[in-house]
Order: sequence, then C-alpha cells, then structure tokens
Amino acid sequence: MTMSASLRLLVVDTDQFGAAAADAVLRRLPAHRPRLGVATGDTPIPLYRELARRHACGQIDLRTALLIALDEYVGLGPDDPDSYATYVRTLVAAPLGIGTENIVIADGLAPDPDLEAANLDTRIEALGGVDVQIAGIGSNGHLAFNEPGSAWESGTRVVQLSEQTRQDNARFFGTVADVPHRAITQGLGTISRARSIVLLAAGTAKSAALTAAVSGPIDPHVPASMLQRHPAVTVIADRAAAAGLSLRGEHR
Ligand code: GLP
Repeated sequence: MTMSASLRLLVVDTDQFGAAAADAVLRRLPAHRPRLGVATGDTPIPLYRELARRHACGQIDLRTALLIALDEYVGLGPDDPDSYATYVRTLVAAPLGIGTENIVIADGLAPDPDLEAANLDTRIEALGGVDVQIAGIGSNGHLAFNEPGSAWESGTRVVQLSEQTRQDNARFFGTVADVPHRAITQGLGTISRARSIVLLAAGTAKSAALTAAVSGPIDPHVPASMLQRHPAVTVIADRAAAAGLSLRGEHR
C-alpha cells in the first residue's frame, strides 16, 4: 500500500476518537487568535464534545478563535435549524464561548450566491488563512462539498450536490426531497491552503472512500485524495473506517 510520506494516520478505538482528534487539532493550533476551519456532519461531533469538555474544565481557552466553516447549503439561512450556520453556532462556538462575530461562513440566503462564494475566498485570505482545517469525508470521497470531478485548484463556489450526497444527508432533513440541491463550498484549492488538515473518518460506510483517498491514486474522482498532495495532514480513523487499509497495529 502506498501512502504519502507527509500523511500521518492514527487508527483509534471509537471511545478514543474525540480525544485523539482534539489532541491532533490542539497540537497544531497557534495560541494567539487561532483560525480553526470547521467541518459539519456527524463525524466531528465527538471532537467538538471533547473540546467543549476541556473548555468547561478550564484546560483550554479558544474564546479568541475564529471559526471558518467549509460549506453551507444554498437556501438555508443562519436561523434555519438545518443550516450549517446553526450547527457551527450551537455545536462548536457556543460550547467554547466563541461569539457569533467570530464565525466566518457563507450566507446561504445571499441574493447572489456566486458573489457570496467569491467573497468568502477573499475574506479567508484577508484573515490570513486557516491554521488547522478539520475535515470529514463523504461516502463518495467528497471533501466539504467538492464532489467527484472537482478541480484541484477550485476556489469557493456554488456546486450542485450529487444524488449520493443528498441521500447521505437526508437523515438530517427527514426526507431526501428536503435536502437542498446546491451548496457554497470552499474549493479544493482553498482547502489546500490550510496550514494543516485533520481528516476524520468513522464507520464502515467511510471505509472504501478513506482507502481510496489515502492509499489510492491521486485522482479528481476522489476529491479527498488531494490530501496526499498536502504537506501536513493527520487522518484519524476508527477501526471500521480504517478496515480497508491493511494496517498492522496502531499507526501513530
Ligand atoms: C457533508 C459535509 C462534509 C462532511 C461530510 C461527511 O456532506 N458537507 O463537510 O464531511 O458530509 O459527513 P458525516 O460526518 O455526517 O458523515
């Protein structure tokens, strides 16, 4: 199995997932006004819970952090319970004592979504970029909402969601018909400028995508394989997600 030399893989038991992810993120985060790129979805929840726990017992203080979100559904505003703005505000920012003014996310209700997307790229650059980007992986290998076939250099833009992605995310909405068809996503080029990336993968449903992303060819049909081109990536996988990686023992 080939794997990029700069990619560090950590395979952990499910009960260690949040703590291992928190350690990986905090180790790379600067002390002064860190810029933390945040992903949504189920996978990072144990990480956000662990950060909240450490905050509550005074072990960490991320109150001055800027939270920069990867993506947002077009058509869902910050007051919509299913928007990623709501997710970031309630599941990441609030438990860490981070004010809403320190959340950077595309407005899903912007009258001109293309302009909103382009502005987000400019804004991220003006803020000095992302120090640590937390990322998940789609079952089709997508990164943020960069679906298979996305260009390596793509910037933040409006994308059509694939049927696979809409099916996968239907569980958050009740029915697939309610899942928006479009999203604003940071591009693969945008994500690649983060100084370091911590990719999280959990569960059998992610096994094939994770295997393709970290040990398959670097191929635009597997957007997450761009991680092999990045100089500072840590992948944290539970044993089910890592099952296809033919590993012996723990990789640290
Ligand atoms: C969504 C998000 C991604 C996320 C992925 C996996 O489509 N846009 O940023 O990483 O799906 O989500 P989950 O962790 O819920 O499986």
